[in-house]
Amino acid sequence: MAFSEKRENNGAAEDSNHSRLIKLREFDDTKLGVKGLVDAAVAKVPEIFRISNNNLDHSSSGSVLTIPVIDLKHPNTTAAAAVRREIVGGIRGSCEEWGFFQVVNHGIPEGILDEMIQGVRRFHELDPEIKKRYYTRDLISGFFLVSNFDLYRSAAASWRDTMGCVAAPDLPPPEQLPDATRDILIEYSKQVKQLSKTILELLSEALGLEPNRLNQLGCGAGQLLLGHYYPACPEPEVTIGVTDHTDASFITILLQDQIGGLQVLHRNKWVDVQPRKGALVVNLGDLLQLVSNDKFISVSHRVVPKRIGPRISVACFLRPLIHKGDTDSPPVYGPIPELLSEENPPVYVEADVREFMRIHSSRGLDEPSPLQHFRV
Ligand code: OGA
Ligand code: NI
Repeated sequence: MAFSEKRENNGAAEDSNHSRLIKLREFDDTKLGVKGLVDAAVAKVPEIFRISNNNLDHSSSGSVLTIPVIDLKHPNTTAAAAVRREIVGGIRGSCEEWGFFQVVNHGIPEGILDEMIQGVRRFHELDPEIKKRYYTRDLISGFFLVSNFDLYRSAAASWRDTMGCVAAPDLPPPEQLPDATRDILIEYSKQVKQLSKTILELLSEALGLEPNRLNQLGCGAGQLLLGHYYPACPEPEVTIGVTDHTDASFITILLQDQIGGLQVLHRNKWVDVQPRKGALVVNLGDLLQLVSNDKFISVSHRVVPKRIGPRISVACFLRPLIHKGDTDSPPVYGPIPELLSEENPPVYVEADVREFMRIHSSRGLDEPSPLQHFRV
């Protein structure tokens, strides 16, 4: 290609990048997210949300396979030890095979789950002028509303808005939480903290460790709670709700409503995670894959948009303490020593989690996970 020709082509690409950036800013400046577009009755999905890949295929494999369901009920009988062994075995199998499972009889009353979904919905459906005040790209300092935290980094924007806040070690002070969701957010977060302790105990046992090991490591010490709102989409086939990604967390506890759309990559095929009333979805994130030295896997998942909606989900990410003031020294995580042996040498170096999270949040969700930076 002649030099001048190449320059012209680059010039065209720059123009198109520039005009995309202007459109992204315009969208961001509305502070009303995708909900704002839907309220304005857009008939077509705007350019910035369109995925250029012609092969965009939302279909699942139609597989009859479903992610395993683990019943956490502990009978108060002498069978308790056997039941626990069964639960731990089920979790171990799920974590090796799927990186995902659902839990039932987890102790959080269904009324609280339903009200949490409603609380997220009420917030996203607030009067635009009230809602706007919470719109920010600062996801650390307090309660926030944002559309696409990777808006300026991803190849295409996703059909989704998100509210949330850090939930552990502490929620923001109650007066900073919007009325629409305050009470249930406080209650739900309390319940999820309790459940996350139990799940980390079971996961420790599933790894063959002391039950307290992952809790002592601080795997649930930091929590980020997100309330996603996926509005009905006029052209679901051209965009995505959440791009294919893995979570950076140790584990994620996800509550979804009955609409569906979450898919998990299993043996190279997308499998639908069928909504199940009263259940919670648990998936492993990159940090758990790292400390487990690849024994357990952090698996790709995505959300496909639908003509119906809104779909609502609430994700609680269990992470280490990472923010300034949370800890004196930067937390470092590597493969847990008890899991290593001559036959099973470490496949990761120790990772400074602030560096890990910095890599995680400086990229588009559609780019490779930070895990690979820490491979031996
Ligand atoms: C996430 C996520 C899935 C969902 O927030 O990381 O994968 O169903 N959410 O909203
Ligand atoms: Ni996720």
